Amino acid sequence: MNLFESRLGDEFSDLQEGPVALDKLGDWQKTVNCNSLRPEDVGREIVLMGWVQRRRDHGGLIFVDLRDREGITQVVFDPRIGRQGHERAGALRSEYVIAVKGNTRFRPEGMTNPKLPTGEIEVAATELRILNSSKTPPFQVEDDVDASENIRLKYRYIDLRRPKLFNNLVARHKVAQMTRAYFNDLGFIEVETPVLTRSTPEGARDYLVPSRVNTGKFFALPQSPQLFKQILMVAGFERYYQIVKCFRDEDLRADRQPEFTQLDLEMSFISEEEIFSMIEGWIVKIFSGLKGVSPRPPFPRMTYGEAMDRYGADRPDTRFGLLLTEVTDVVAQSEFRVFRQAIERGGIVKALRVPGGKDLSRKELDDLIEFVKIFGAQGMAWIKIQADGWQSPIAKFLSPDVQQGLIDRLGIETGDVILFVADQRKIVNDSLGNLRGRLGRQLGLIDPDAFNFVWVTDFPLLEWDSNEKRYTSVHHPFTSPFESDMDLLETQPEKVRSRAYDLVLNGIEIGGGSIRIHQQEIQRRVFQALGISAEEAREKFGFLLEALQFGAPPHGGIAFGLDRLVMLLCGCSSIRDVIAFPKTQKATCLMTNAPSEADVNQLLELCLKVEGDRNK
Ligand code: AMO
Ligand code: AMP
Repeated sequence: MNLFESRLGDEFSDLQEGPVALDKLGDWQKTVNCNSLRPEDVGREIVLMGWVQRRRDHGGLIFVDLRDREGITQVVFDPRIGRQGHERAGALRSEYVIAVKGNTRFRPEGMTNPKLPTGEIEVAATELRILNSSKTPPFQVEDDVDASENIRLKYRYIDLRRPKLFNNLVARHKVAQMTRAYFNDLGFIEVETPVLTRSTPEGARDYLVPSRVNTGKFFALPQSPQLFKQILMVAGFERYYQIVKCFRDEDLRADRQPEFTQLDLEMSFISEEEIFSMIEGWIVKIFSGLKGVSPRPPFPRMTYGEAMDRYGADRPDTRFGLLLTEVTDVVAQSEFRVFRQAIERGGIVKALRVPGGKDLSRKELDDLIEFVKIFGAQGMAWIKIQADGWQSPIAKFLSPDVQQGLIDRLGIETGDVILFVADQRKIVNDSLGNLRGRLGRQLGLIDPDAFNFVWVTDFPLLEWDSNEKRYTSVHHPFTSPFESDMDLLETQPEKVRSRAYDLVLNGIEIGGGSIRIHQQEIQRRVFQALGISAEEAREKFGFLLEALQFGAPPHGGIAFGLDRLVMLLCGCSSIRDVIAFPKTQKATCLMTNAPSEADVNQLLELCLKVEGDRNK
């Protein structure tokens, strides 16, 4: 049969006017995807199905770039296909869904497209079926889309057609598959824990779900499966994991979502060392499987104290230097009022030596001063080390002795700029730590291809919450204190270190965990140090305390933010780019318009009444 003796024409009515007549799929089957045809397929008759990426008309020939999730194939409609078929092809618009039967052939010389894997061939259409039309999309399905994020979130199904987003979700799928395979091989058992449950303290607010059957009572969505996984250890599971949704009502940032996914693990009879090496093996597996790079275990370790001292943060980005140095003792004798007063009030002074920083303009330095103020600093002093001397508003206050002290402490060299913040320790660390990150990016000190892992250990067990006027857990209340520090729990609680650890990648906390308390008496003392009364502990966690009395094995675990990890693996700057249906910074879904008001009848059934709106 002549391939161009079209069967198209008979089936179609006039297409130029009104809505397009749609076809049925019939008995057609998609035989290849839009990224599979190569020169060796020339001559094959195939059926392609997908979306019209774009249509171009060229002197009787109609070219359609047909797209599916795998890629793009060029389809050509020749007038010989028949008048009506040709007219219908001419009526195709972006995002129409079509099925095309045709023959694979070489593109004419000079017409190949080396940018496309299918760029050497094209498909000469013999039949077209229009399976659905599409309204003009609000933005083109292209990777360098210029639509606002809000429009893209509202039309998420169109945004997800973009190869970049689609591939991110494929990467996520692969990470989940490799993760399951890895932990299954190590004897872990995946167990589902409840979503309707009680509050799990991880430091955020709970999402509450009212119970209809138990009027006036509420479930909390889990902030993590922490309590259940510990109870699974008491139940003798020994090795548990779960890829699990967690819910936290907290202020959102680029790397936070109100509902997110954890890889959650717990093991019995386990030490920190075993957990570290098991996790390092998993990281190697997913990084080599997905990125072809293999981070080399064992990963470096840093104590919390060192991270705070040198990086000003418990999430050190070790891809670049620019470390913080404390100079309190050096400048304590200086004439500079700001430094002296801060020290007299129990504060400290730290400095950041920026090699080559003398070229920062006054305007740039003023911008940095405004930047540190975001983190509570009152200001920032600076010294430019020029060949002909020190240039600085504060140089006149620094005696030759103090200057020599700074040279020795900081290893100052000509061309540097030295930046100082004086204040309470927390503010100094916060402001200089963030300034360090900003300068690292601004000065191009960060290798974008580097993956720098570091375990942060020896966290304090507790920290003082000046708002609530009590100690709170740095990790969570079930974390084991260092045995050697136990004597300090009642006398100097802030000195007690915990057996908690975080895994940090490029300055982002991707996972955190701890060895747990498995003896009820120690748990009781920790609750007491936290100012949690015996009744309150019984009321909130009585089931855990009771379980600890029925043969709880020593145990520990860790949980990873799967979204964050995939975000870093895919080189994305926002966690929203690796979540199929993410929420906005205001914790709303622009596609479904959730959350929404509840129906009056629903509220009545729940015996709930909405009293005003806090946001109005
Ligand atoms: P933690 O609270 O440190 O520990 O959480 C573990 C990891 O989860 C990720 N994460 C988040 N990711 C996205 N959006 C959020 N809002 C968010 N909050 C946390 C982070 C973090 O490292 N039960 C303990 C773990 C344990 O002790 O085993 C826990 O949940 O990457
Ligand atoms: P002032 O005397 O307040 O005008 O400050 C003199 C210089 O000290 C300015 O460059 C300020 O930015 C800087 N400065 C002010 N407060 C601090 C602080 N807490 N730490 C470091 N430098 C500061």
